[in-house]
Amino acid sequence: MTSAEFKKKIAEGIPAELPELKSYDQNINHAPKRKDILDNTEKRLAIKNALRYFPEKFHQLLAKEFAGELLAYGRIYMYRFRPDYDIKARHIEDFPYRTRSAAAIMLMISNNLDSIVAQHPHELITYGGNGAVFQNWAQYRLTMKYLSEMTDEQTLVIYSGHPLGLFPSSIDAPRLVVTNGMVIPNYSSQDHWEKFNALGVSQYGQMTAGSYMYIGPQGIVHGTTITLLNAARMKMKSKGRSGLKLFVSSGLGGMSGAQPKAAKIAGIISVIAEVNRKALNTRHSQGWVDEVYSDLNALVTRVKRAVSGSDVVSFAYEGNIVDIWEKFADEKIHIDLGSDQTSLHNPWSGGYYPAGLSFEESNEMMSKDPAKFKDAVRISLRRQVEAINKHSLQGTYFFDYGNAFLLEASRAGADVMKSNGEFRYPSYVQDIMGPMCFDYGFGPFRWVCCSNEPADLEVTDKIAIGTLEKLIKESPDQIKQQMDDNIRWIKEAGKNNLVVGSQARILYADAEGRMEIAAAFNSAIAKGRVSAPIVIGRDHHDVSGTDSPYRETSNIYDGSKFTADMAVQNVIGDSFRGATWVSLHNGGGVGWGEVINGGFGMVLEGTPETEIKLRRMLHWDVSNGIARRSWARNKEAMFTLKREMEKTQELKVTVPYIADDEIIEKALKEVGSGS
Ligand SMILES: NC(=O)c1ccc[n+]([C@@H]2O[C@H](COP(=O)([O-])OP(=O)(O)OC[C@H]3O[C@@H](n4cnc5c(N)ncnc54)[C@H](O)[C@@H]3O)[C@@H](O)[C@H]2O)c1
Repeated sequence: MTSAEFKKKIAEGIPAELPELKSYDQNINHAPKRKDILDNTEKRLAIKNALRYFPEKFHQLLAKEFAGELLAYGRIYMYRFRPDYDIKARHIEDFPYRTRSAAAIMLMISNNLDSIVAQHPHELITYGGNGAVFQNWAQYRLTMKYLSEMTDEQTLVIYSGHPLGLFPSSIDAPRLVVTNGMVIPNYSSQDHWEKFNALGVSQYGQMTAGSYMYIGPQGIVHGTTITLLNAARMKMKSKGRSGLKLFVSSGLGGMSGAQPKAAKIAGIISVIAEVNRKALNTRHSQGWVDEVYSDLNALVTRVKRAVSGSDVVSFAYEGNIVDIWEKFADEKIHIDLGSDQTSLHNPWSGGYYPAGLSFEESNEMMSKDPAKFKDAVRISLRRQVEAINKHSLQGTYFFDYGNAFLLEASRAGADVMKSNGEFRYPSYVQDIMGPMCFDYGFGPFRWVCCSNEPADLEVTDKIAIGTLEKLIKESPDQIKQQMDDNIRWIKEAGKNNLVVGSQARILYADAEGRMEIAAAFNSAIAKGRVSAPIVIGRDHHDVSGTDSPYRETSNIYDGSKFTADMAVQNVIGDSFRGATWVSLHNGGGVGWGEVINGGFGMVLEGTPETEIKLRRMLHWDVSNGIARRSWARNKEAMFTLKREMEKTQELKVTVPYIADDEIIEKALKEVGSGS
């Protein structure tokens, strides 16, 4: 297809003539059949809703087709309308546009749906089993059409994948505002999601799926490397040990697939269990995991040999994680670090596969007999925790990896609680990411080169290294380690071949680091050192972007971790400080109803106006969370805020006075309360 033909296709939107019906490609990793949640009246409503996108003359034919999809898959994806061209990141100039910002957004959407990037590309799912870009192909087509024709005086509004339309705004407004899964709080259970999604009126946008900011598994390789490095440092310090050998976890999917690669970069042997052969093969063929075993005894022999030697190697086990925890306990294999990255934010429809059932048996049971499947998941979680507890007694450091493992295990009645009502194991944010990164403002800054050229990415890597090396000279001791880890990371990033999809990079930086790197990119674009605009953004797993009591804000201890003011304020603040697009989501990471998160994208055009915007917006995008974390009395955040207020005159934040616990105890005693 020529470039002109491609542009014409994008601008066409929903075609005037029906495209050919598509066959169901068995070689693609498809989303599992979703639960049959709608009653007969609601099924009619779902079909009527889907038909809204098409002229009446097609309704008879499409109604039958959509009814069939609803029956077969539990959703209406409108497969017929999946385009014939390859969906992937291209040079920004390959997209049709009237404002370049819109072309950059099209590039980012295309990357999220690229078949080498997306988990279930035909169901428009980027990662996490249900992290959707759109609910159906009509929404994709219509959105791309709107973007191709919008001007700098319009804003596109997207409700959970549905493009509501273009509305007049101004050049300073965001070009796009996205909300995903925003529902009235009382209607935010897992089944509500199933129902609203099946009706075609809401979707789970995860974090970077429905906000068009996914950059393949690289993002999570970085986060996982930092987490494993710091977990190992922490354990070595507490045990006075010098070397750590073995990490055990599960999942080789969208995000979890990063674990073996990250462990290798961190110098640790890993064993990762994966029940889905397709997901496992993808990671193996990409070279992200070294050796594959489906025989437990053979794996045990090989792992024992590896831990007694000096090779750092990564193993995939084709099977259930519960079998690994149990077998390794029987075989007395010492596990230093342990976690879990099954998709437990989505426990009942394919996020977690119970032990004792094959992958195929589970898939069948979850749609045919959901109640029995739920029981099997609960039993499996109890078994898994029992085995983990045995290892923990032998010194394994187990942490929840932000996938709602502890939450769902506790709901399943697993022995995972302490007597004081807290979880027996920490979340990785409580112990590691919170105090070491977020409270100092360090979070997942990322960028995408809109030329789609590796050469541009190489230039930006060098710019980022130079900027951080300059900043570290003036950094206080408290953040030198974080700076150093990220300088090392970015120096190695090119060599580690991390790019899958768009020419993207990620590193962790604080407000100053993010602003200085972005400003240096902007200047490089202006000077022609970088050949096209750059999109900057972040994932939502960050300082300010996410309120999630069991993950990003699990180290907030003033009782406010169940509030979501920070995440909502963040998006509003980003939108009027210069973001090109913003998004706000219910769900993401730990599950529907469990988290509110938001993000932004900003197109750097190499202009002076962009420099003003990027400084204004990035400063807020980090300071908001620092101020909240400081108000929650987190001492690292109080330190960071004080430093920032000394630098920035206009920043005036309310800081807490710290009450002495003894005074409170005495006061309660005196009034005869609180005993
Ligand atoms: N910690 C973080 O920074 C972070 C970041 C992103 C995602 N997450 C969370 O991690 C989880 C995984 O994300 P993902 O994108 O990899 O999801 P995914 O669905 O792509 O991958 C999970 C994989 O686990 C496998 N699996 C499920 N049950 C299993 C079992 N019992 N034994 C072995 N394998 C099993 C599935 O087949 C699947 O391939 C999600 O809950 C996600 O929200 C955490």
